[in-house]
Amino acid sequence: MLVRPPPWKAAHVSKPLFEAAKAAMANSHSPYSKFPVGAAIRAADGRIYAGCNIENLSFPEGICAEGSAIAHMVMGGAKEIVEVAVIAEKLDMCPPCGGCRQKLAEFAAPEVKVWLCDADGPKLAMTMGELLPAGFKTKLG
Ligand code: THU
Repeated sequence: MLVRPPPWKAAHVSKPLFEAAKAAMANSHSPYSKFPVGAAIRAADGRIYAGCNIENLSFPEGICAEGSAIAHMVMGGAKEIVEVAVIAEKLDMCPPCGGCRQKLAEFAAPEVKVWLCDADGPKLAMTMGELLPAGFKTKLG
């Protein structure tokens, strides 16, 4: 089920997350795709960790914005994602790619909201459970 974004006055929690994702997008290194992406994670420690996509001339070596934000979160000492925002300059809403869904699911419970944003703010929240209903699982986790 898709969750509608609350009005701004009720969305004070998501607004700083959105602003962090948008600011991160400005740091994108995407000369090959010319498709800047920004992501921001609010972790259980209350802090916001942001990231951008970082491409490489050897194309498969690039990393997505979500992976970059996760790297910042883990290096910041946090391991539990509470809320996520993703923004791409050239898409009204940028759903995380398949690989990023699995990366986020490592640290995010199925009820965690992922806000898909455009330049003005969050447009749509999808839960991790909606984004990755049948993710990879083993006895290890
Ligand atoms: N990209 C992300 O950063 N996150 C996604 O979820 C989708 C794709 C990046 C990868 C690449 O740098 C560019 O967008 C075009 O695919």
